[in-house]
Amino acid sequence: MKSTFKNLKAFTFLLVLTIVTLTGFFCGNPSENASEQKGAASKYLNHNDTVKYVGMDACRACHNSIYETFKETGMGQSFHFATRQKSAAKFGKHHIVYDKWNNLSYYPFWQQDTMYIMEFRLSGKDTTHKRIEKVDYIIGSGQHTNSHMMNVNGFIYQLPLTWYAQKGKWDLPPGYEGGQNVRFSRAIGLECMSCHNAMPGFEKNSLNKFTNVPKGIDCERCHGPGELHVREKVAGNIVDTATQIDYTIVNPKKLSWELQIDVCQRCHLQGNAVLKNDKNFTDFRPGKKLSDYIDIYMHLTPNVCK
Ligand code: HEC
Ligand code: HEC
Ligand code: HEC
Ligand code: HEC
Repeated sequence: MKSTFKNLKAFTFLLVLTIVTLTGFFCGNPSENASEQKGAASKYLNHNDTVKYVGMDACRACHNSIYETFKETGMGQSFHFATRQKSAAKFGKHHIVYDKWNNLSYYPFWQQDTMYIMEFRLSGKDTTHKRIEKVDYIIGSGQHTNSHMMNVNGFIYQLPLTWYAQKGKWDLPPGYEGGQNVRFSRAIGLECMSCHNAMPGFEKNSLNKFTNVPKGIDCERCHGPGELHVREKVAGNIVDTATQIDYTIVNPKKLSWELQIDVCQRCHLQGNAVLKNDKNFTDFRPGKKLSDYIDIYMHLTPNVCK
């Protein structure tokens, strides 16, 4: 029941996006034209590096109904602390996953409000190996999957157990089958995190050390950093957005068709993404041209996540 409701909300969200985007496209709303954007420095004031991300709660006071709708979507629930409320999985004594290639077993459980994954090996009735790790985050809204991560002094690793919602069962994560189980050592880097979350804080040049791990994709991933917009609106500097563009924030509806697609393609790309020279996974902002940041090479088989 809960998930039907979620899907309905998600569908409505997409529908609203599509309809408004299309009407914007065909009905000639105030819109940036593509040639104007080319080469010219951006007019969007939040493309400036000094403008900071402020998080979704900062938008709530003035855009409450969008906030309430968005947080129910899959994207709004893409990443969070591992809480009982966040987890879509079932738990119990019979939910044990056996990795026959490594002769290891896995068992997910709660102790009060903390989730753990136990790895163990049996020799007859004796337990000859046992390792228990705390789960800090759940990645995936649970519409399809929940995967699990731990935070060791800011270093993020994936844990070797995933909940598959459609099948209603636990199993090894994608890519861990057939003897490829890397157990607790798969580093989750910026590439991964910057597609599944709000903009994280990352320790430069590290493989997987984060200074800030947000709680799910948020408004600013599609609208750009909001610091300046919030400051201007609080100060009462209001733009008539029916006839003009508020350049303190990006409304995708008012972008060229190509730049609209780029907003979504930043994360919904099919193929292998390779960063351009000197570019970073945190550099792209909505309203910019994605191909200035990332080259995309196609796979022969569809594969969103490496
Ligand atoms: C203090 C109130 C306030 C806050 C906080 C606020 N907004 Fe707004 N926002 C407005 C108002 C009022 C408008 C319409 C008038 C304008 O843009 O000047 C608007 C317009 C917008 C637009 C449309 C701009 C256009 O050109 O069509 C977007 C997108 C937007 N806000 C996103 C956000 C996001 C994302 C956040 C959080 C980071 C946020 N807003 C926080 C008041 C606010
Ligand atoms: C920051 C990366 C990112 C951006 C930007 C992004 N998406 Fe997503 N999107 C995701 C991820 C990750 C999921 C899977 C979420 C989950 O279920 O855990 C997703 C899921 C979805 C879904 C599935 C249903 C749901 O409830 O969310 C739709 C539809 C969707 N995105 C559409 C869009 C559109 C349209 C845009 C552009 C306007 C867009 N996305 C921009 C990362 C992104
Ligand atoms: C280029 C952006 C991108 C990167 C990089 C990426 N993902 Fe994804 N991932 C997505 C999108 C978008 C979806 C949703 C796909 C859909 O619904 O069509 C997704 C789906 C998933 C799902 C299923 C979520 C669900 O419940 O639907 C998991 C789990 C996942 N990714 C984990 C990872 C991990 C772990 C990494 C890093 C090793 C990673 N992804 C890297 C964009 C990305
Ligand atoms: C996945 C991308 C995405 C996310 C995330 C997102 N938006 Fe939007 N938003 C859009 C698109 C596309 C449009 C233009 C189409 C439309 O008007 O619905 C838009 C339009 C808007 C507008 C102007 C139109 C209106 O309805 O007033 C505001 C304000 C806005 N968004 C605020 C927010 C806030 C606040 C959040 C977070 C709670 C948010 N958005 C999250 C993509 C997104």
